[in-house]
Amino acid sequence: MFISNKIQKGLKNQLNRELESSQLYLSMASWVEHEYGGFEGICNFLYDHSDEERRHMLKLIRYINKRGGYADIFFDNNHINNKTTYGSLKELFQKLFEHEKKISSEINLLVELSLKEKDYFTYNFLQWFVEEQIEEETLSKTILDKIQLIGENKGCLYLLDRDIKNFQKK
Ligand code: FEO
Repeated sequence: MFISNKIQKGLKNQLNRELESSQLYLSMASWVEHEYGGFEGICNFLYDHSDEERRHMLKLIRYINKRGGYADIFFDNNHINNKTTYGSLKELFQKLFEHEKKISSEINLLVELSLKEKDYFTYNFLQWFVEEQIEEETLSKTILDKIQLIGENKGCLYLLDRDIKNFQKK
């Protein structure tokens, strides 16, 4: 194995976090579809993002296995809020933003571990996730800021929903 046990354990924990993120986005998408059926922009954004989180998970699985480890999949859903309903879109995006911040701090810890273990391959591999987290935090904060501004005004939420279809990561 080209990676240490410590690194493998850290990466495996992270792949589980990404799987949980995918489930979280999926459950949020389903709630929005149920509660705000007409808001296709927000709904599709959440469904698409669930797929994106799954791709993050796959990236980690493939890396661990390529480095001679074994990315056995385990299930541990205690790390995320298992809420399946929300008081409002604002509450949902607040939770999403908090979740992405938590993922960022976990990625930071992994980067720190890779340096401590002098594993520069893993350090290099993790830079993609560092960049990704900057984008994800910014995106969820941007949507949250807009929703905070709008409040529950349905007309403005409708316009936001339309705009969200065009949101691109910068
Ligand atoms: Fe893969 Fe949203 O973190």
